[in-house]
Amino acid sequence: MAVFVFKQMASTNAECKNPCYSHGDAVVAVEQTAGRGQRGNVWSSKAGENLTFSLVWEADFLAAKEQFLLSEAVALALVDTLAGYGIEAEIKWPNDIYVDHRKICGILIEHDLGIAGRLARTIVGIGLNVNQTEFEEWIPNPTSIVLQTGERKGTNDVFGDLYEALERRFEQLKTAPQSIQSDYLRKLYRLNKPSTYALPDGKKFRGTIRDVRPTGELLVEHEESGIVCSYLFKEIEFILNF
Ligand code: BTN
Repeated sequence: MAVFVFKQMASTNAECKNPCYSHGDAVVAVEQTAGRGQRGNVWSSKAGENLTFSLVWEADFLAAKEQFLLSEAVALALVDTLAGYGIEAEIKWPNDIYVDHRKICGILIEHDLGIAGRLARTIVGIGLNVNQTEFEEWIPNPTSIVLQTGERKGTNDVFGDLYEALERRFEQLKTAPQSIQSDYLRKLYRLNKPSTYALPDGKKFRGTIRDVRPTGELLVEHEESGIVCSYLFKEIEFILNF
């Protein structure tokens, strides 16, 4: 494994598409000029203040249909790292990292499939807010390590701690994947707590998360009907107004 640090680049996820990077390699950017987020969004991060990097994982021991386990392992590594700084983080389905109802970290995972329905190569992109205190106003509910603890941290130190946590969770993924699923559920934001959700057609409803399937679908019990419905990413959105 090797770590490559760039002063400036468009997007570390885009850079990692280059096949010269293999398992365990990480590409870190002090500044991204075209950082990418989920749902085609932009990822905005002040130069030098935060951690923006991508990591290549080769998890060919996982079937493509088990890819959500990998996403769970990454989210748990973030929770582990933040716990080491005294921050109690939770995972907002599918893999945003939240502290006190605010987003501290976004994760963008891109898979290449291999032969026989297995995963070949995965790019894990992580944007962790470390020392930034002011954010652009269109970013809905951001926070950072410094805002939570009052202490600035060296981004290299945070990278080192997080890299180790990622290695530990990758090992667990290989040896005890079922425990990844149960650890993830224990850290899930709003599990068994009534919340407001919106569907893609704009309809809002009150419901309660009851479970997440190993394949990643969110199971939400609708308050009005008592029926438990299953949702894929992009099929449901949290409304943060409780
Ligand atoms: C999200 O929208 O929540 C996901 C954000 C992921 C951002 C990280 S920053 C490093 C890596 N490179 C990118 O272009 N995006 C990811």
